[in-house]
Amino acid sequence: MLAACSLRDLPPGAALRLDLPELSAPIALFHTERGEVYAIDDTCTHQEASLSDGWLEGCEVECPVHSSKFDLRTGAVDAPPAKIPVRTHKVEVRDGTVFVDPAP
Ligand code: FES
Repeated sequence: MLAACSLRDLPPGAALRLDLPELSAPIALFHTERGEVYAIDDTCTHQEASLSDGWLEGCEVECPVHSSKFDLRTGAVDAPPAKIPVRTHKVEVRDGTVFVDPAP
């Protein structure tokens, strides 16, 4: 697992783009208002938008470019125009640090 950030840097309602050399593609981290932390691929599957720049609502993020919605828990598309789900990545929060296990 990769140490991604301090939980202090990702308050509830916030998102963070993680672009590390170890990653094959950038990952977006989200901290929901209910206190859950999720990680999905940062790049929208419709075009080249960064989902960490999108709007977080509940367990969904809305793409900032054409408003596709993705479920942070499953990566599923909840609203078009995107048709392909994003990958999800396992997240753990330990001692105030967010760890991510990038999906293969
Ligand atoms: S780039 Fe995300 S919906 Fe078009």
